Amino acid sequence: MSRISIKYQGPLCGEITPSPDKSISHRAIMLSSIAKGKSIVRNFLRAEDPLSTLGAFRQMGIDIKDRIQESGVRSQESELVIHGRGLTGLTEPGNVIDCGNSGTTMRLLCGVLAGQTFSTTLTGDASLRTRPMQRIIRPLTEMGAVIESEKGGYPPLRIRGSKLKPITYKSPLASAQVKSAIMLAGLYCHGITTVIEPGKSRDHTERMLKAMGADIDIKNLEVSIKGRATLNPLDMTVPGDISSAAFFIVAGLLVPHSEILIKNTGINPTRTGLIDILEMMGADIRLENQRVVSGEAVADLNVKHSRLKGIDIGGDLVLRAIDEFPVVCIAAAKAEGTTKITGARELRVKESDRIATMAAELRKMNVNVKELTDGLIIEGREKLQPAVIQSHGDHRVAMSMAIAGLTAEGETTIEDAGCIDTSFPGFIKMLESVVEFGLEKRTIK
Ligand code: S3P
Repeated sequence: MSRISIKYQGPLCGEITPSPDKSISHRAIMLSSIAKGKSIVRNFLRAEDPLSTLGAFRQMGIDIKDRIQESGVRSQESELVIHGRGLTGLTEPGNVIDCGNSGTTMRLLCGVLAGQTFSTTLTGDASLRTRPMQRIIRPLTEMGAVIESEKGGYPPLRIRGSKLKPITYKSPLASAQVKSAIMLAGLYCHGITTVIEPGKSRDHTERMLKAMGADIDIKNLEVSIKGRATLNPLDMTVPGDISSAAFFIVAGLLVPHSEILIKNTGINPTRTGLIDILEMMGADIRLENQRVVSGEAVADLNVKHSRLKGIDIGGDLVLRAIDEFPVVCIAAAKAEGTTKITGARELRVKESDRIATMAAELRKMNVNVKELTDGLIIEGREKLQPAVIQSHGDHRVAMSMAIAGLTAEGETTIEDAGCIDTSFPGFIKMLESVVEFGLEKRTIK
C-alpha cells in the first residue's frame, strides 16, 4: 500500500500528455476480440482497469500481443495487436474472470457473454462487489440472457450464454455502460436492438462500432444496431483521457502563476462537461490544434492560472463530467463563493460513494461542505489546511486530493494511493514533471 506526500513547490509549467483514454481502451480490446482479423491499437492504456479487460479476453482464447511491453519500452506507448476471432470465436474460460476494480469491464463484458454458448462467472475486488449490476441484468434478461447474482443484483455474476432476441429498451439511466452492454448483446441477435436514453452518455462504443462497419443508426438519444454482422478489425490510436487531464487542468488553474499545455486530449463532446463547468467558473482554458484522431475529437489544452468563482452545476453538465466531480470539488473548494452540485446521485455508486468520500476528505482540509442526497454544497476558501487524507481505495479521490494538497500550505499526505494505478499509473511522475521545483517526496510503505 503506498502513500504520497505533497507540498506546494511553486507554479506548474511545461507540457504534458495525459494517459490514454480508459473508456476507449476497454472498448478497443472488446470489439477487436469479437471482430474478424488482426486489429492494431496504438496508445492503449496499460493501467489496471483496461488490463482486466485484456486479461479477460486472453482467458477466452484471444491472442493479444503487446508489442511495446515485449520490447521493453515505456508503458504509455503500448501498442496492441489483437487477433479477433469473430462474434462466436471466444472460448469458455477455464476460471472465474476477475474484473478487479473495473465496472466497465464487468458491465460491458456481460453484454458479450450473454450471447455466447458457454457460461462464465465474473467477480471483482471489494469495491466492485458492492456496485449495482441490476441496471444491466434487467435489460439483458429481457433479451433472453440468464444471469445469476448475489441478492440485490451484486457481483459475482454467473452468465449463462443464451440465444438472444432484440429489444427496444427505454433506459431509466443515462449510462454508457448500460447502453454499451445492450448494444454488444445486440450484436448477437437477429434483428435490430434499440436503446433510448434519458440523456446523452458517452458515445465511444457507437463511434468504434461504426468504424468497424456495424450497421448502427443514431438519432440523438436513440441508438439502434443490427445484429449478426461481421465486425472489421480496428486500426486506431487511442487519444489522451480528458478524465486524467482533468487533474492537471484544475491544478494549472488553481496554483498561482501556472501555465501548462496538456497535449493530445480527447474532447469528445459527451466528455467535455468539465471544461464547460470550469469556464463558467471563470477559467482560462484554450483549445488549440483541434483535430480528429481515429474518429475522436482531440485538442491541446492551454491552461492558465485563473480566479474561479462558485456556480450552480446540474442537468446535462453532470452527465458530461460524471467522472470529474471529485476534482470539480477541489476547484469549488478554492473558488470564491459557493458551488452547488445537484442531480449527481450516480456519484454515490462509483468506485466509492464520491459524495460522502469527497465531503469527508475536504472537511479535513477545513472546507465547509454540505452533503445532499444527489450532490454537494461547497463553500470556497482562500486557504486549504494540509491534512492526512484517505483515498477510500478510489483512484479519482486520491488524485483529486493530491491536487488539493498542491494548493494547501504545508504537507498533505494521501494514504492508500496505490489505487491511482487503476487509471493513471504515471500520475505522480507527470505531476513532478510540471511542478517547477519538484514535489517534496514519494514514500512507499
Ligand atoms: C464509463 C461510463 C461511465 C463512467 C465510467 C466509465 C464507460 O459510467 O462513470 O467511469 O467507459 O462506459 P456509467 O455508464 O455508469 O455512467
